[in-house]
Amino acid sequence: MESTTSMEPTAFIIFGASGDLAWRKLGPALYNLHLDGWLPGRFAIIGADRKAMSDDVFRSHLRDGIGRFSRQDKTSETDWGDFASHLSFVETGTDGAGGLQTLTERLEEIDKTWGVPARRIFYMAVPPSAIGAITGQIGAANLSQDRERARVVVEKPIGYDLGSARALNRTLGVHFEERQIFRIDHYLGKETVQNILAFRFANPIFEPIWNRRYVDHMTITVAEAVGVEHRGGYYEHTGALRDMVQNHLLQLLCLTAMEPPVAFDADEIRSKKADVLRAIRPIRHEDVHLYTARGQYGPGWISGQQAAGYRQEPEVAPDSRTETFAALKLLVDNWRWQGVPFYLRTGKRLPFQASEISVRFRSVPHNSFPAESAPDGQPARLVICIQPEEGIVIKFQAKQPGPRMRLRQVGMRFSYCETFQKPSPDAYETLLWDVMTGDATLFMREDQVEAAWSLLMPVLEVWQENPPVDFPNHPAGTWGPESAEILIARDGRSWLLPTRLGDEENCPD
Ligand code: BG6
Repeated sequence: MESTTSMEPTAFIIFGASGDLAWRKLGPALYNLHLDGWLPGRFAIIGADRKAMSDDVFRSHLRDGIGRFSRQDKTSETDWGDFASHLSFVETGTDGAGGLQTLTERLEEIDKTWGVPARRIFYMAVPPSAIGAITGQIGAANLSQDRERARVVVEKPIGYDLGSARALNRTLGVHFEERQIFRIDHYLGKETVQNILAFRFANPIFEPIWNRRYVDHMTITVAEAVGVEHRGGYYEHTGALRDMVQNHLLQLLCLTAMEPPVAFDADEIRSKKADVLRAIRPIRHEDVHLYTARGQYGPGWISGQQAAGYRQEPEVAPDSRTETFAALKLLVDNWRWQGVPFYLRTGKRLPFQASEISVRFRSVPHNSFPAESAPDGQPARLVICIQPEEGIVIKFQAKQPGPRMRLRQVGMRFSYCETFQKPSPDAYETLLWDVMTGDATLFMREDQVEAAWSLLMPVLEVWQENPPVDFPNHPAGTWGPESAEILIARDGRSWLLPTRLGDEENCPD
């Protein structure tokens, strides 16, 4: 990690300053970085928006979000006063460079005060449709020219399909070089996701068994208990495949399946991940029904609470055909993974929140124990728990105490909170810090984004051409539609209940 004292003075410009992302994520993340001493000595946070507001209103907007969402205690007057002195607001217009005139003047003023050209980070906390116009203004105002210091950050969704993702990438590319562009997938900022690299490549004991010889299959689950909340309008045009699979789940798959990098270097790691995407066997249109399942939750119960169905959520059509659940089977055609299926599933309003990667090892080649000694006979399994609990569990057979040879599956676990005794930083803190230090390892490169879309295009097309006739096809509070069970059962396998670190010994397997 670069020390903060050696960090260049930085101006952090948030386009869409009045919006949800600035309020919910960026404000709290920047505030926590400030409290923990990770921001440069000289920094400025400039809110930019077409909607005019005073510096004070912008400050209150961020303070409100920090009060609600920051992982650290509510803001004390001293801490807040210090942080707030770095915040200001500028109104932007719609015309080319002229629309950013006030911002340009503010940035020049800052450089003059600091006596050095500051690093400028332009954060697009705006809907994707606004990114083209704003980057055009930045380019026209000559604010992207300094290749070393100017950076642009864009959020997912990067496009709606392959064509729109390419168009967005080309638009960004007109004014910024690839090394200046930071595409955020917030999953990559999660501690446990970053730990996949440490776990796999800092320990020689796992890598020898991390291949087709020992692994039977993997499942990647990202289950949410929440519904679409206040985002029905956005979600109606997105659905689970675009919202979660195209980015978060495929990124998890890449980290799990990639080859060892030669160096811990942004381009090297991203190239190794891109190799995985390139190796995934394309799904032919005629096979989409065999490799995928989709679902939508209806009314149901979650943890004793009644939950509305998706079609009853605000801003959702009463006959909506948007999928809130998606499952896929993917095959990675390379030496390491030939024949090992990767099953992915994600959904909203599932029984509980759990994101995990579960590696199921092969059964022993020959079972020397009598059948009655191992009634469950479960093969060993390694689970990387991403959230809400963070850690790793290894499940294996052990002899139960007693005179007879009876086997039972037991668990060995590593828990983040027990070991490190402090909460992990929010993913945005890590990612914003990386943008400031210029480390692009945890960001999506243009080719990765496009490869992920290419892979999913046949699924999107077939789903679009064949609207579902059975939605809603699972009640809220259940693990998705029957078709998801059939998807994996066709291969003689089944989804397992996600592991809960606290009670993994008792988790039915
Ligand atoms: C976002 C999706 O990218 O990730 C949301 O748009 C989803 O629909 C969220 O709820 C899940 O993130 P996390 O960090 O809560 O697992």
